[in-house]
Amino acid sequence: MTDSLFREWRARSEACLQAALSSLDGAPERLLAAMRHGTLAGGKRMRPLLAYATGHALGAPLEHVDHAACAVELIHAYSLIHDDLPAMDDDDLRRGQPTAHVAFDEATAILAGDALQTLAFQQLAEAPLSADIRIHMVTELARAAGAVGMCGGQSVDLDATGQRLALDPLQQMHAMKTGALIRAAVGMGAICAKADPAPLTGLRRFADALGLAFQIRDDILDVEASSETLGKTAGKDADADKATYVSLLGLDGARSALDAEYQRMHDVLGNTGLSVERRQPLSDLADLTVNRAH
Ligand code: IPE
Ligand code: IPE
Ligand code: MG
Ligand code: MG
Ligand code: MG
Repeated sequence: MTDSLFREWRARSEACLQAALSSLDGAPERLLAAMRHGTLAGGKRMRPLLAYATGHALGAPLEHVDHAACAVELIHAYSLIHDDLPAMDDDDLRRGQPTAHVAFDEATAILAGDALQTLAFQQLAEAPLSADIRIHMVTELARAAGAVGMCGGQSVDLDATGQRLALDPLQQMHAMKTGALIRAAVGMGAICAKADPAPLTGLRRFADALGLAFQIRDDILDVEASSETLGKTAGKDADADKATYVSLLGLDGARSALDAEYQRMHDVLGNTGLSVERRQPLSDLADLTVNRAH
């Protein structure tokens, strides 16, 4: 049941991404090609799935969630293109393909990321929803993507490279660089659904746990999985001396931390007051987050 929902939601979000990119008439061909390369060539679409699953939990019509799902994935795609740049993680493989600055060039990759970011906010501004909802979503995504969210976390990540962060600051870095966008995916799904405050508090806690779990799993996979399975170069974190859950706690310690977040996700979700049926896709996304192979 959830598998077919996930297939439907993935296809829906990919159609929205296609439509958003196809609307850019007059954009330079090379820039547009780099934007398409960074957005349409694979990806698990976790953030759109979270937005749809939250909308589903709160009874929002699917078409009300489309623009939020598309916007958060556009920000994610931009964040990956910039994360892979030589000035940041300097990676040449992403989703089984050459990274944007390798397939194109560095300046084009920077501009593609910039343009994906503005396209994300355009998606929200032009959503067929009330002005109140659109402004609320813009605020939610802007905070999550900016200096107190993803960009801030990326800055801490770069500063921490070669250093040993204690657990609290490491957790805070993960919550910012990865957790913030995941929180915004859930937050915007709830805004589209005009959610009551009661389930919303629980859903935000759920998103916090999932965001942290998602990055802990990413840290573990960097050590455990092959480049072929990951579609990105394995072992990069240790090579670059990154501060990760594995570098601080070891593999077993990172696995225990992941288990704790898994438990927290299910505890919090169980206390939202949502029916089992309504919360099932969110529960399945929690499972996917900790069990994913790439
Ligand atoms: C990778 O994100 C970067 C992190 C925030 C850990 P994903 O694992 O969601 O990447 P794709 O979109 O599926 O390629
Ligand atoms: C990326 O974290 C977080 C972002 C905001 C893009 P990583 O640097 O660990 O992501 P991967 O491993 O390159 O996908
Ligand atoms: Mg990085
Ligand atoms: Mg990286
Ligand atoms: Mg990583």
